[in-house]
Amino acid sequence: MTAIKTRPVHGYSKFLSTGSARGSRVVTNEEMCTLIDSTPEWIEQRTGITERRWATNSETVASMGTTAARTALERSGLEASQIDAIIVATVSHHRPSPSLAAYIARELGLGDAAAFDLNGACAGFCYSTALADSMIRTGSANYVLVIGVEKLSEMTNLDDRSTAFLFSDGAGAAIIGASDEPGIGPVVWGSRSDQLKTIELEDWPTASADPNKIHPLIRMEGRAVFRWAMTDVAKRAAEAVAEARITPADLDVFIPHQANDRITDVVSRHLKLPESVTVCHDIADMGNTSAASVPIAIDRMLQRGEARSGDLALIIGFGAGLVYAGQVIRLP
Ligand code: ACO
Repeated sequence: MTAIKTRPVHGYSKFLSTGSARGSRVVTNEEMCTLIDSTPEWIEQRTGITERRWATNSETVASMGTTAARTALERSGLEASQIDAIIVATVSHHRPSPSLAAYIARELGLGDAAAFDLNGACAGFCYSTALADSMIRTGSANYVLVIGVEKLSEMTNLDDRSTAFLFSDGAGAAIIGASDEPGIGPVVWGSRSDQLKTIELEDWPTASADPNKIHPLIRMEGRAVFRWAMTDVAKRAAEAVAEARITPADLDVFIPHQANDRITDVVSRHLKLPESVTVCHDIADMGNTSAASVPIAIDRMLQRGEARSGDLALIIGFGAGLVYAGQVIRLP
């Protein structure tokens, strides 16, 4: 039998750079409460959110994703032509084909890079990171551009006061490349397909049957997600740390999906994080940007000096599916 030749493999992969873009319109809790029956205090106490960012009409998932990616590319020192693949994690690209990745590749001049979208809901960036790591280690790519981007304001149901105040718009990007040292730990990931109805986007026929709707809207059973996150997700976060053969005390930073500060606090307690670990609270003035929340938070913490290059960070995403994915990474 003739053997198939495979490509030479790389030992490891690592994050080389990040970039981000936030929707430019600040929507405070006060403004939110002109749209829904609530109070700024209730929203802040229940979620930690004081304000969120909504994109303007001219800020699209393509433009925000491109801006974040361009910054990451500049900071990496690479040429666009060196990117072998682009993965875009999103649930906000409303044209099933071509992919958003293909549009962003064109904007960036990525030439013939492999380009595809990944629907991992709020775990999409961590799913994509795991995929990029595997692609590099098996020799399918040398450099992968990973983007998480959402425009959730378009899909927010302002008639549902129990979720409308959560969602926000933005993009985060990272360049992942080959490395001699491990820079991305084993992913702990999975899904709970018995919980499909817990968070869902309407399908297009339902949305388009209503003349008042431009986009499908998000529906979520907040309490059920909250309970699942506090138990299962907390356990998976601990597993991701153990799989990297480190202890929580070895971490410098904890950057979970920015869904609710109370979930972040419970998971941090479950992990028994010492005070030396900086916990990300980007949600406070950013809200929840689903697949974009983890890379936006990583980028901001690095830019503000709340985290440093070389730090060990635990990242974990969780959301519709229900899906989860987390890993320990070394920050670029
Ligand atoms: N203002 C005032 N009162 C409100 C509001 C509001 N905006 N919304 C609900 N309430 C009331 C309810 O009517 C209820 O009153 P009752 O007890 O008299 O019936 C009470 O507040 C509690 O309502 P809950 O919905 O149970 O509120 P909860 O404390 O669970 O907070 C929230 C809701 C913030 C959505 C929370 O459940 C949550 O964060 N869940 C997890 C969401 C999440 O992690 N999603 C992740 C994936 S999805 C994604 O990221 C895209």
